[in-house]
Amino acid sequence: MNEHIFIGVAWPYANGPLHLGHIAGAYLPADIFARYHRLKGNKVLMVSGSDQHGAPITIRAERESTTPQEVVAKYHQQFIDCWNKLGISFDLFTTTGTANHAQVTHSIFLNLLNKGYIYKDRMLQAYCPKCQRFLPDRYLEGTCPNCGFARARGDECDECGKPLNSGELGDLRCHICATPPRFESSEHLFLRLSSFQDQLTGWIKGQTGWRHHVVSTTWKFLDEGLKDRAITRDLDWGVIVPQPGFERKRIYVWFEAVIGYLSASKEWARLQGDDNAWQDFWQGDAKSFYFIGKDNIFFHTLVWPAMLMGCGGLNLPYDVPANEFLTIEGKKLSTSRNWAIWLPDYLERYKPDPLRYALAANMPESGDSDFSWHEFLRRNNNELVATYGNLAHRVLTFAYRNFNGAVPAPGELDERSQRLIHGAEVALDSVDGLLYHCEFKEAIRQAMSLAQEANRYLDEQAPWKTIKTNRQTSAKSVYTVLSVLAALKTILYPFLPFSSEGLHSFLGFDGTVKEGGWKIQSLPPGQVLRQPEPLFVKLDEDIVAKESSRLDSVKGNQKIES
Ligand code: MF3
Ligand code: ZN
Repeated sequence: MNEHIFIGVAWPYANGPLHLGHIAGAYLPADIFARYHRLKGNKVLMVSGSDQHGAPITIRAERESTTPQEVVAKYHQQFIDCWNKLGISFDLFTTTGTANHAQVTHSIFLNLLNKGYIYKDRMLQAYCPKCQRFLPDRYLEGTCPNCGFARARGDECDECGKPLNSGELGDLRCHICATPPRFESSEHLFLRLSSFQDQLTGWIKGQTGWRHHVVSTTWKFLDEGLKDRAITRDLDWGVIVPQPGFERKRIYVWFEAVIGYLSASKEWARLQGDDNAWQDFWQGDAKSFYFIGKDNIFFHTLVWPAMLMGCGGLNLPYDVPANEFLTIEGKKLSTSRNWAIWLPDYLERYKPDPLRYALAANMPESGDSDFSWHEFLRRNNNELVATYGNLAHRVLTFAYRNFNGAVPAPGELDERSQRLIHGAEVALDSVDGLLYHCEFKEAIRQAMSLAQEANRYLDEQAPWKTIKTNRQTSAKSVYTVLSVLAALKTILYPFLPFSSEGLHSFLGFDGTVKEGGWKIQSLPPGQVLRQPEPLFVKLDEDIVAKESSRLDSVKGNQKIES
């Protein structure tokens, strides 16, 4: 059956480089999922873009004495480079700065306003007398009412993760100059989130397949009772508010960023030359998946669904497979302390697949997980090079040299060889089921255990020995392993697209892995192989020390807050 799969991926703030936390949290799982569905022959639309509004951007611009637009332009381009190099295969990666996005935001806004889901009210807003400006929540600092952390931000506590309204903080002060703000009343627009309490509760109750931590985080908010939220701010950077009297205000970044999923889908449709093509992914049987970090759960399981319910006619999320956090060398990732591994740095020095492998094999799906350089080295050298790469290289070079560079005719397969080939079929089906349910870590584990099994078979069969006595026996085992490689290049493609394309070509297939579909492509005897090259390279032990020493070193240009 042909499914329509919409994949929305969190929109990164274009205020600094991407790091491994972003990749493990959202972009890699989304890409694995997209590639898998494309192989299955399903229609996939995967979109995201630079989140270019909000205080994270203006704070960064002020700190660098530049304009928000320049900050955004720089990082947006850098993001696109990173996606290309890491193989994150967006159908569209746009920005929230397009005219299309403003227009779609306005139509949703007006739709909700007309139905009474958005209303005007007055709100006290912090104003810094020294800086002479209104202070959005992110520009405020104070004590968290939930955990007592002294330097909580006005919108959220970094320590306990609770989303906050700045009014709830103790000892409130301006983030720029530490002056206590005074409060001035002004008119704002509010989303009537409280009126969706029952509808959201019923809907969440029906989500039996979601990850536990996603459901329990969502219940925490529901149990507290949903509160209406201001969706305008006193700012000049952002999407304008289509209401008289609001000329000096902008739409709150979170309200419009989630609308990006829809506006990007419409932009994509227009680029396809079919303005209505987005509807296939938002209506009817289409399933929508939102890949995000756990800090964004509230906005994706409650706020965005409420907005969609209010608008009507658009599908609610089918699943929100949020990931938990990635720690680095056992410590909480912190961009401001440079305790982070920056993706552009990684991609300058290493190949994409080893990172994809290490992060997928240890993905923070159901708990936080750790990235360490030692573990990265071990996974690369012992698993990718010694198991999978070595299997491929041994048998491909052997066939290339001893069987005239072509797939040998196996003769009749014995029970042992049939069992291995059957194992490949079982793995294909099992990984299929796991990926369908977003269980990435277990999927890659099972795929690799097929490679291990094939390695054992190859060692046992030792075609390099049997070739001296019985060429047919040697041909049989070479053929069997080549067939398993034909399975592995497909099964591992969602995780390791670059090496899968290489293997696909060495095995003598034409076109791309994707064209072969999610099946074991049959390998006709006589198919001409291509000159093999190693799929992976061994890394030197000393990268561990070198890379670890880069952590925590305060490089001025990378000190950012996100
Ligand atoms: N920019 C936000 C962040 O980095 C994520 C926004 S996800 C969106 O936390 F869907 F709302 F755009
Ligand atoms: Zn101030």
